[in-house]
Amino acid sequence: MNRYIPTLAACITMLLTLTPSAAATLPSGVKKSHYGTMPDGTVIEQYRLTNANGIVAKIITYGALMTELHVPDRQGKLGDIVLGFDNLESYLKGHPYFGATIGRVGNRIAKGKFTLDGRDYTLARNDGPNHLHGGIRGFDKVVWKAEIVPARNGAAVRFTYVSPNGEEGYPGTLTATVTYTLTDTDELRLDYTAKTDQATPVNLTNHTYWNLAGGGDILNHVLTINADHYTPVDDTLIPTGAIAPVKGTVMDFTTPMPIGSRLLSLDNSPRGYDHNYALNDSGKGMRLAATVYEPGTGRVLETFTEEPGVQFYSGNFLDATLEGKGKTVYHQYYGFCLETQHFPDSVNHPNFPSTILRPKKTYKTATIYKFSVK
Ligand code: BGC
Repeated sequence: MNRYIPTLAACITMLLTLTPSAAATLPSGVKKSHYGTMPDGTVIEQYRLTNANGIVAKIITYGALMTELHVPDRQGKLGDIVLGFDNLESYLKGHPYFGATIGRVGNRIAKGKFTLDGRDYTLARNDGPNHLHGGIRGFDKVVWKAEIVPARNGAAVRFTYVSPNGEEGYPGTLTATVTYTLTDTDELRLDYTAKTDQATPVNLTNHTYWNLAGGGDILNHVLTINADHYTPVDDTLIPTGAIAPVKGTVMDFTTPMPIGSRLLSLDNSPRGYDHNYALNDSGKGMRLAATVYEPGTGRVLETFTEEPGVQFYSGNFLDATLEGKGKTVYHQYYGFCLETQHFPDSVNHPNFPSTILRPKKTYKTATIYKFSVK
């Protein structure tokens, strides 16, 4: 039998590379499995990403959405900190964008209308009078193609979707990608790209509902948002066009505040937060957008982004009608979202950063969710 006998040089190399912390880590990697089958027979795959510290993220090709994310608490115990379901059938029955990739344009477009280069466009209306999160069949409800891609510091999967010209009313064929990378430094990094053959608005985001306690309501989670301004809205949640200071209002999260401390005193969104914050240092690349700390488990989520804004949504419309993973009923405020994005209804507000992508240009943006404990 041929046995491997290490040479002296190999032994020295092994000793040098096996530092105490490296010895305790696991190899990061990706595993693909069958998740379910669409009514038309299309197979939905699940990709399980693991990192060196045991963090596990699971993403499926339906909606390029994250179904599970297991991260350690202060005691090192892993817990699933995102809302979702146990099977494809539940996702197909309809849900409020749990874990999903959102596009072609995340957030609202007033009355589903805009004018671009002198042409009027009408989009699908799926939120009262408005267009929301890409329409009736947005990027959260389509099947993406997945491929495992190399990552320098972890494990990665790239999802691609080609949105046909005219889909939900949008102009141009758009090829969008989102790459999920789970790094060995405990970050989940989302890199987005898009290319088009006609000018079109694009605003991709992720709609994960976080619950750092792994269950219950999120009202005691302590939130900080790196924004001195927000975009006030009308009673259909369309921005008025103002970029208003948060100082002295219940919108102010520039210092850490429990999410539930001022929830019910909001104008125009009486059930809770559902607002876009205009992040500080817009245009300066990747920077901290928000930090959330859960005192019970010690879990901390930091969100970094290259985007100008973040929609903070406190799970107001969860209403105990959905039974999620492990038969958990999702009550109001059982999860919150931090949707990094361009501002809502940007196509109708020339004073907001533009969402228009033109042919030959590449849309490129990234958001990082970083996990730790304190
Ligand atoms: C919107 C909410 C909406 C939620 C889920 C959020 O991004 O701002 O108004 O209810 O998504 O549908």
